[in-house]
This record gives sequence, structure tokens and C-alpha cells, in this order.
Amino acid sequence: MAAIRKILEINGVQRSFICDPVNDSLADALRRLGLTGTKIGCNKGQCGACSVILNGKLVRSCLFKMGKVDDFSTVLTIEGLGTADNLHPLQLAWIIYGGVQCGFCTPGFIVSAKALLDENPNPTREEVRAWFQKNRNACRCTGYKPLVDAVMAAAKVMRGEMSREELFYKAPADGQVFGTAAPRPTAKAKVMGLADYGADVAIKSPDMLYLAMAVPDVAHANIIRIDTSEAEKSPGVFKVITAKDIPGNNFVSGFPARTGCSARTLRRTIP
Ligand code: FES
Ligand code: FES
Repeated sequence: MAAIRKILEINGVQRSFICDPVNDSLADALRRLGLTGTKIGCNKGQCGACSVILNGKLVRSCLFKMGKVDDFSTVLTIEGLGTADNLHPLQLAWIIYGGVQCGFCTPGFIVSAKALLDENPNPTREEVRAWFQKNRNACRCTGYKPLVDAVMAAAKVMRGEMSREELFYKAPADGQVFGTAAPRPTAKAKVMGLADYGADVAIKSPDMLYLAMAVPDVAHANIIRIDTSEAEKSPGVFKVITAKDIPGNNFVSGFPARTGCSARTLRRTIP
């Protein structure tokens, strides 16, 4: 089907763009506009990473083909919530309660929680849990308790029962941060949807190189020699990296645990 022009009001700004009504989902279109805080995890409506608020309702944007999104619809993505100097209480609480770990699920969860609090400003913990379950928000890192804590605290701030300042992290006088709620350095970017993951970098830098692991097809062997000459001649291959290219002493502990890591992420000590 031919490409169409679509006009949406995204985060309060009217945006006009070309898209494929059949093959592009709302998530694809938003991400192509640079709003990569809307993540695509499963692309099947099962993880909630792509949650946005469409015409006032929480939706998983990977499920909505652009042909089904009406012109002049309003869309709220994570980028439309707070600013770096004035985070939304949910963004702040996510940081303080340890809701941000890898951060991939974070934008979807925060947008989902915003939709919940728009509908129910005073939810119980059970209602928060039920909401996330109903809307399929999944997190593989946090164990969910910090996320429920964060929603409960943010809701208090939004109801005026607690000040934003009470939420702020207060560093202990002795400077020790272990066991405290010290924000992790990447947390702010993650709660704002500004932290770029691999797929985000690929959209913003089309010339990005992709890394593919090559592993022996036998379970146990002594590697005598690695001949990379044929691979180097293959079209599109930029460089073949082997252990020799990694400086220092390599300590690769337990290969299965590291399957899928790039060579650069292998643990190493630099002399
Ligand atoms: S990417 Fe849309 S629900 Fe997982
Ligand atoms: S913080 Fe990693 S998946 Fe939720």
C-alpha cells in the first residue's frame, strides 16, 4: 500500500510525517521521529516497553498499525513527561526507589503508571500491581517491588501529601553510599527515555556497525589457530576481532553466561 501522510499531536506538538499504513506500527513511527524512549521489546504486545498514551488511553504502540491511528490523535510518550530540571514525580520516584536498573522497561512503566494515576490518583498497592499486570508491563530486573513503591510515592506527591523535596536523595554526612538510595548515574537519562540502546543507536546512526559472535561448533577443543582471512573478504565485513585485539589479560569466566556479549564487553584487566 502507498505511503500516507499522517498528522499527530505528539507531546503537545503537531507533527506531520510520511508512514506506511500497513507495515508501520505507531511505535515504529514514533521511533523514526526520534522518540526512541518508546522501546520495542517483544513487538507482540506482551512486554509493555512500547506503552504510550493515545487519545488519553494507555496503549501498546507496537500493536497499532498507522492506518488505524486517526489524524490529529494525541500521543503522550515518555519524552513528553518531565524535563531534566523538572522531572515528573514518577520519574523522580523511579530513580529514588531503585526502579531503574537496565532501564529498558522504564519508559513504558512510567507512561503506564501515569495513565493509572490519571485514572485513579489514590491506588492501593494491589491496584498498582493489577494495573501493570493488565497492561503487560514486564521488568526482568527489579522484582517489581521498587516499581510499586515508586508509584505509591509519586502518587502522594501528586496528591499534595508529600513534597518533591522529600523524595530527593539525601547523601549521608559520612559520604557512604552503600545501602542508600543513591541514584545510579544513568538513571535520569533512562527515566526520560533519552538513554540509547542498540536499536536506538541504529536508528540515529544508520552507519552503525553490527557485531556478530562466531563460536566454534564443537563443545570442547584446543584452539590451535584461527584463520580469519576468508571472513575478512566477505562483503560488508568491516573487521574481524579476536582475543588478540583485546589488550590486557583476558579473564573470561564461564562462556555461557557471556553468550551474546560483544568482544569489547569481555571482562578484562588492563596492566
Ligand atoms: S514491544 Fe510492544 S508490548 Fe512489547
Ligand atoms: S529495569 Fe531492566 S527490565 Fe526493568
